[in-house]
Amino acid sequence: MTATAQVADPQAHPLAPWVTLPWLQRLRAVTAYHTGAERIRDVSGPVALIKLGPRRITPVAAMVTSPQGARDVLAGTDAAIDKEMIVHVESRLHGDNVFNMAHEQWLPRRRALQPLFTKQHVATFSGHMAGAAEELAASWASGRQVDLDQDCRTLTLRVIGRSIFGLELGERAGQLGPHITRILLYPSRRALRPVRVPAALPTPARWRFRKSMAVIHQVVEEALTAFRADPSRDAPLVRRLVQTTDPATGQPLTDKAIRDELITFLVAGHDTTATTLTYALWALGHHTQMQDRVAAEASALGPRMLTVDDVPHLSYTVQVIHEALRLCPPAAAIGRLAMTDIVVDGFRIPAGTNLIVGTYALHRDPALWDDPQRFDPDRFAAHRSKGRNRWQYLPFGAGPRSCIGDHFAMLEATLGLATLVRAVEICSIDDEFPLALPFTMTAGGPIPATVHHRA
Ligand code: HEM
Repeated sequence: MTATAQVADPQAHPLAPWVTLPWLQRLRAVTAYHTGAERIRDVSGPVALIKLGPRRITPVAAMVTSPQGARDVLAGTDAAIDKEMIVHVESRLHGDNVFNMAHEQWLPRRRALQPLFTKQHVATFSGHMAGAAEELAASWASGRQVDLDQDCRTLTLRVIGRSIFGLELGERAGQLGPHITRILLYPSRRALRPVRVPAALPTPARWRFRKSMAVIHQVVEEALTAFRADPSRDAPLVRRLVQTTDPATGQPLTDKAIRDELITFLVAGHDTTATTLTYALWALGHHTQMQDRVAAEASALGPRMLTVDDVPHLSYTVQVIHEALRLCPPAAAIGRLAMTDIVVDGFRIPAGTNLIVGTYALHRDPALWDDPQRFDPDRFAAHRSKGRNRWQYLPFGAGPRSCIGDHFAMLEATLGLATLVRAVEICSIDDEFPLALPFTMTAGGPIPATVHHRA
């Protein structure tokens, strides 16, 4: 076991303050944890304890909204702060996977999967990424209205399907979308309730969840069956999982373990990036000059398909993606459980506390960002980023459990945005970007825009 970031003696620090809002407002702040974290920070400061019921039924939560607090929670490399929070426990209804496993079980799985997601390796997927974006742009009829959210989901499902599953999934986006949302929503709603009925109780919601899980199981089963039938198939994630051994048994992973892992990548690997692209396109659809800069940067590379080697020439496009991730971080909050007493930004947090790092609140904190509500990609220009605290901007999390797909997502979003904006001019229709929290933060409804092909 390696060293932890926690070196301070918790007993030498004061207990974090309790949030004093009325019960209903506390509940609302925890369930709407994007804006709720801002409210708690404004009322009770950057580290605050929230009680929603008797401790043996509803564990205390701590909302953490300072860079130092985020560092104290996320940087540890041992199991003192682990993924045993109620959200992780409930998400095991999907099966055990690299996202929700506790430290001991997680470490070998992460090591096994990491090589697929290095910057060098994800570069091999760039043809799928740019190709799928070209297909989407070509499918848009000039002058027509489109739903950016639906179309970006189709795009990212297509990319993840072709890149790591060896499946064509884009055409099935409309059919799979509601099932994916439902399998995310059910455990996360359960986790956010102050009191839960036993998971095995046959409620209508449970029945619908199981029905949707069956649909998603069919997709991952298809990927596994196809790979077993033809092991030369281009399905790198399936191949890697089939070749991985379980450190507990020394045996290959069971088919169930492989399917459970594939489900996480299917879900985590597409709706996050879809939301990022949707938000970036919607924002550019309101800011013509910024959109023209992205179009000019991409057009300067010529009409051919963009590749990974073009990324160094797409620096403004990358800034736009960073700004989209700042204002609309798909992981609006990051959860952990304090397994022992710990210190967070100078305060003692007792063992057993659910820790919530409020990414959305950090990204919009007026004490950390100039004019934080403004969409301003230039804030990520090199000269303006200099000296910024690394822990105030956490779209992909941080520390050992940061996103394994960060390079994949950034490459996909960069090539996707540049390809789409080079091909079409986007004009957003709605002034507001509605947000929903099925688990990650997504668009809360269609995002209409009109598209016009550029000359
Ligand atoms: C813009 C897109 C994305 C965003 C904003 C995002 C964000 C995040 C964040 C914040 C975490 C850390 C969660 C925590 O600490 O509890 C995470 C973990 C994870 N992400 Fe992503 N993600 C994105 C895309 C992807 C993609 C494309 C994949 C797969 C291809 C992926 C797979 C995962 C997995 C498997 C984990 C769990 C890692 C672990 O615990 O070892 N994500 N993601």
